[in-house]
Amino acid sequence: MSNPTSARPPAMVLVGVGGYLPERIVTNDDLSKVMDTSDEWIASRTGIRERRVAAEGQTSLHLAVEAGREALKATNDGRTDVDALVLATMTPDRLCPATAPDVAAELGLGHIPAFDVSAVCSGFVYAAATAQGLIAAGTAQRVLIIGTEVMSSFLNPEDRNTAVIFGDGAGAVVVRAGEPDEPGAFGPFDLGADGGGSDLITVNGFGGRTPPEPTRENTDDDYLFMAGREVYRQAIPAMAESSRVALAARGWELGDLDAVIGHQANVRILDAVCRELGIDTSISFVNLDKVGNTSGASIPLAMTHAHQQGFTTAGQRVLLTAFGAGLTWGSGTLIWPELPEMPA
Ligand code: UT7
Repeated sequence: MSNPTSARPPAMVLVGVGGYLPERIVTNDDLSKVMDTSDEWIASRTGIRERRVAAEGQTSLHLAVEAGREALKATNDGRTDVDALVLATMTPDRLCPATAPDVAAELGLGHIPAFDVSAVCSGFVYAAATAQGLIAAGTAQRVLIIGTEVMSSFLNPEDRNTAVIFGDGAGAVVVRAGEPDEPGAFGPFDLGADGGGSDLITVNGFGGRTPPEPTRENTDDDYLFMAGREVYRQAIPAMAESSRVALAARGWELGDLDAVIGHQANVRILDAVCRELGIDTSISFVNLDKVGNTSGASIPLAMTHAHQQGFTTAGQRVLLTAFGAGLTWGSGTLIWPELPEMPA
């Protein structure tokens, strides 16, 4: 008779990806017409050339539904059902309730558990680690994980420190229970947080520190603030170290890696992380030139674009790594699976 306590918990296996970008494109030149900046500054300091901006009334819910629908209809096992939804966002439609139950209802997923994870730019990695826990515990067999952001609703249009950086979008992945070595299998995640840096990227309004007042007018607290240079300084060693931990937990060497899909904040950060790890920057996927920094949507959107562009192919060993507000960071590994072709 088998001993149930010695059985290996199921691994989390990727079976589908999907993404959605709002139609409106805002180029660096467009921004230089309304604020003191230039295409030269933005492109050379960040790598960003354009970003998408949601239409009036288009919220994180709408973007998430589009990305989630695309991922569900593009699974490699042809299944469209899931039994949990974990959604990463720093721009929920409302402070209460979470956005995930609305997304599940719109997608017709039934009364499955659905909740938001709040870890900002590391949000997707935290959400994926949470989904992995649900699968390992047997609470769920198939999970839809979505990162969705309408950053534009929290950007001060006059703040060139943030307005040129962030963009709107959503990405989604479908995962299922499976075996640890099969194509699509994720390894253990490395996650971390340092509240000592919590003031470096903030939206101070809308929380308990600034409870509603009937007469309150819009203030700087209603907008995203970022101490960019200090975040930049901390992001590189944190992502490199977290990547090393995630690789070691999988038993992989740095030289085993075929592709890196990092949080798309700044191409200089992505390149510096590669240099710090001693890996070639050519294996690091970049789509921030087209989408900017989409915070929690960044990695699943990048996974989708990497697949669509043929950057990732079946059997490759892939590293995911992110850093952001909190401060938070996280990394994970997966073996890229065969996925249905998706039009770019
Ligand atoms: O996604 C979550 C985590 N976030 C990140 O990882 C972002 C990390 N930070 C960064 O990517 C970079 O710090 C930024 C791209 C945000 C800024 O780049 P930087 O090279 O660190 O620039 P800086 O803030 O140190 O500013 C350098 C100069 C300043 O002028 P002075 O003081 O040297 O005369 C700024 O006033 O560039 C100026 N500047 C700009 N100029 C034109 C700042 N923003 C702009 C702008 N256009 N948009």
